[in-house]
Amino acid sequence: MKVIKKILQMQKVADEARCAGRKVGFVPTMGYLHKGHLSLIRQARQLSELVVVSIFVNPTQFGPHEDYQNYPRDLSRDAKLLRQVGCDILFLPSVEEMYPQGYCSYVDVENLTQLLCGASRPSHFRGVATVVTKLFNIVKPHLAVFGQKDAQQAFVIRRMVTDLNQDLEIVVAPTIREPDGLAMSSRNEYLTPQERADALVLYQALKWAHEQIVEGQRNIEYLVQGMTKMIQNKKTAQIDYISFVDTEKLHSLKRLEGEVLIALAVKFGRARLIDNLLIKV
Ligand code: PAF
Repeated sequence: MKVIKKILQMQKVADEARCAGRKVGFVPTMGYLHKGHLSLIRQARQLSELVVVSIFVNPTQFGPHEDYQNYPRDLSRDAKLLRQVGCDILFLPSVEEMYPQGYCSYVDVENLTQLLCGASRPSHFRGVATVVTKLFNIVKPHLAVFGQKDAQQAFVIRRMVTDLNQDLEIVVAPTIREPDGLAMSSRNEYLTPQERADALVLYQALKWAHEQIVEGQRNIEYLVQGMTKMIQNKKTAQIDYISFVDTEKLHSLKRLEGEVLIALAVKFGRARLIDNLLIKV
């Protein structure tokens, strides 16, 4: 595996690969890799000939009181995992390389970014859209793989790619869970044993709602109330949102029909966790 830290060198290698007719697959990450990331990389491996993974903890997607400084980092462990999973190039830029002095250009995807996580993290998706656009311009991939766990992020990126005519395919890969159901996330690292046990309620609440729907329940208020009760029963849980939204505009649904995203964000101590289920009604 080759490690590239400079933008110009990454662009040159990407150009050479494209000229040689090699399909470039890309997985952007903030590091501290877990099995969820590895499944995205395996998917990229299957779909492309040159696999590039970036590790960059992107300061512009963190709010002023969020966990940018403390975000978990373990580069040597990440590099070992990347080698095992067949990554060809690790792109590892510094903050100064990505945002040099005088930097002042941002990508704003409207509407979709104000809802759900955007309501409590107002500049988050602007930072994500900006860094992902920059990474696409640097790595020049034919395809990029994102996780369904960050469902809103995947929607925002798909919208951005369509709206800005970015010339690549976006692949969204399924959420990977621990054997007990907790969705894999680098932020699970923050959980105390009690919070870790309480956090299992997220997937349980999502599955409960899904079962209710399969049995014919169509009352969204009833489902939100049921999920809220389950989650509030856990002492360490603080709900940010539980929403049933459509998969076009991410608007709250009045009626359950078609493709529905059940999405939630809940804080357990320092960790703000998100999870979701995409279902057909
Ligand atoms: O999902 C993430 O880890 C980040 O939001 C991403 C896409 C790497 C952009 O910094």
